[in-house]
Amino acid sequence: MSKIESYEDLYQRSIENPQKFWLQASQDVHWFQSPSVALDARDAPFNRWFPDGSTNTCYNALDIHVAEGRGDQAALVYDSPVTGSKRIFSYGELQDLVSRFAGGLKARGIQKGDRVLIYMPMIPEAVVGMLACARLGAVHSVVFGGFASNELATRIDDAKPKAVLTASCGIETDRVILYQPLLVGALEMSSHSPEFCVWVEREQAAVDFSEESDLHWAEVAGGEPVNCTPVASTDPLYILYTSGTTGIPKGVVRDNGGHLVALKWSLRNVYGMTPGEVFWAASDIGWVVGHSYIVYAPLFLGCTTILYEGKPVGTPDAGAFWRVISEHGVSVFFTAPTAFRAIKREDPSASHLAKYNLTKFRTLFLAGERADPDTIEWAEEALSIPVIDHWWQTETGWPIAANCMGIEKLAVKRGSPTRAVPGYKVVVLDDSGSQVSSGQTGAIAISLPLPPGCLKTLWNNDEGFQKSYMQRYPGFYETADAGHIDEDGYIWIMSRTDDIINVAGHRLSTGGMEEVLSGHPDVAECAVLGVGDALKGQVPLGLVVLKAGVNRANDSIVRELIKRVRDRIGPVAAFKTAAVVKRLPKTRSGKILRGTMRSIADGHEFKIPATIDDPEILGEIREVFKNLGYAKSPK
Ligand code: COA
Ligand code: AMP
Repeated sequence: MSKIESYEDLYQRSIENPQKFWLQASQDVHWFQSPSVALDARDAPFNRWFPDGSTNTCYNALDIHVAEGRGDQAALVYDSPVTGSKRIFSYGELQDLVSRFAGGLKARGIQKGDRVLIYMPMIPEAVVGMLACARLGAVHSVVFGGFASNELATRIDDAKPKAVLTASCGIETDRVILYQPLLVGALEMSSHSPEFCVWVEREQAAVDFSEESDLHWAEVAGGEPVNCTPVASTDPLYILYTSGTTGIPKGVVRDNGGHLVALKWSLRNVYGMTPGEVFWAASDIGWVVGHSYIVYAPLFLGCTTILYEGKPVGTPDAGAFWRVISEHGVSVFFTAPTAFRAIKREDPSASHLAKYNLTKFRTLFLAGERADPDTIEWAEEALSIPVIDHWWQTETGWPIAANCMGIEKLAVKRGSPTRAVPGYKVVVLDDSGSQVSSGQTGAIAISLPLPPGCLKTLWNNDEGFQKSYMQRYPGFYETADAGHIDEDGYIWIMSRTDDIINVAGHRLSTGGMEEVLSGHPDVAECAVLGVGDALKGQVPLGLVVLKAGVNRANDSIVRELIKRVRDRIGPVAAFKTAAVVKRLPKTRSGKILRGTMRSIADGHEFKIPATIDDPEILGEIREVFKNLGYAKSPK
């Protein structure tokens, strides 16, 4: 029997010789033409993984399993408490649906390199659409259903999709969200016009098909099945937009080959999965977690994946997750800590657990935001299994730091996502770009090259890619997270260094919200802060100063501001609190002191900045926060 390699040895191997490490990992996937080298870094930081390899992502997700005799195994379980429906798709069935839908798209002119925007709820057709694009070598761009028309329009104009795949509605517990008005609104705002839209008409809402370019799903789904188009490893598989520091989202571009190798490797080594087992990521296909761990990684490894359309509580109760885990025999489950806080709030003693048989459930993974030690402890006690916090980003596509359950379980330190995953050389830097000693806080960066699977660039924006991630610390990728690494090599992620906040595991830009507030005709200036929230981790709070001469009631202005953010960014922004203030605290050079205000709102101790223009104003701000229910006493 071969010796099992320790985390330490494997990690060192991945850092000392990434070429050898990843070329070996690449042998675990199917290539039409196998790569002879792992990394071409001649044009760094625009690295090319497996540059002479040719593959197809959909082939690796479906066809290979059918070819190897696993056609009857469950590939996708659709479980939708909000519609009261469930359906299991075998690998064979999914391959048939995808190859026909891809055939239908091809017949309408979609080919390799074309972009296809997917704006869909958590229904099987969304997965079929993604895989059909991959089959053709077309580039999908999935947009989360909780974004409003304006956000959708920005993405349409940037990606310039030839087609849109969508549905008549999404369902938020008991509320039907009509998609047609949202999409029509977006198309009115955008300058680019897709050639056609394909609609799934759900029972809960009809579609107006009066435009010729609006097609029924069935019209496309009945196409002639097509085979997988070989693509270069470095060709783009998808664009996924994520919040940047302004209202303009960043289009993260993922390649085919690097993504395939890294994701399959991660499911085995980080999550400890083996083919045939059931993996469930309770997220949404609109987020990176949904791309990587609802759709791609479980299918690459030949696992069964679950597409769950519902919430952790209220569908029907706080036992919703336990029911799914027990009914479908889930081995490893991944969600955001906020979901567990929601369950804990509804069912503090986890009484619903007793009704279910969870014997197959062996590990819970949490990510998307910092897992607070209280939530980890509650989950560990309730479930009696390892609860693993792990850290990553849309940009990386797979975990940067984790307790790699498929390699060796390390001791858990609650509040830390454990150690760097093989492939990632994580460092902490000070302002001058020098590495700090262990325990010292600084900017967290990753030494280049990034491992395969991480972003290739930003869509049509190589310059933005360099500027956002590579410029501040030459030779490193800037994560925009801050924290420290302790003497045992454990990474501690404490905050962001930019204006991104994390609301219920959803990444949002306060800068983007400020742009929306500033556009209100009565607003002179504003600040949006992420303040602590017991359920969602953080929520946005807006403060606005009105233009001179505006004498309308503050309440009605605040209501308009809240509606404005909901209409322009979407309900997912969870922007529900704002106040009018006479002025905002600033430095003498005019910079708004957002950090100081955040400390006041969260009840943290802080020093009055030496550069503040007028310290008295902090008292006024504290009063405003108190009236809004914030500014708790320091703990
Ligand atoms: N389409 C339309 N609206 C959506 C939506 C979608 N796909 N997703 C969320 N929304 C709406 C919600 O209905 C809510 O609207 P409301 O203001 O009218 O109540 C708003 O956007 C905010 O959504 P959310 O922050 O998710 O709050 P919630 O109260 O609906 O649910 C949790 C809170 C914690 C239960 C839920 O966020 C959750 O399960 N999160 C964990 C899993 C996860 O998604 N993680 C993401 C990355 S891993
Ligand atoms: P997203 O791109 O939406 O996945 O968000 C990525 C950001 O979420 C990271 O840069 C962190 O700020 C935060 N994040 C994700 N996972 C964790 C974690 N386990 N601990 C702390 N922060 C996290």
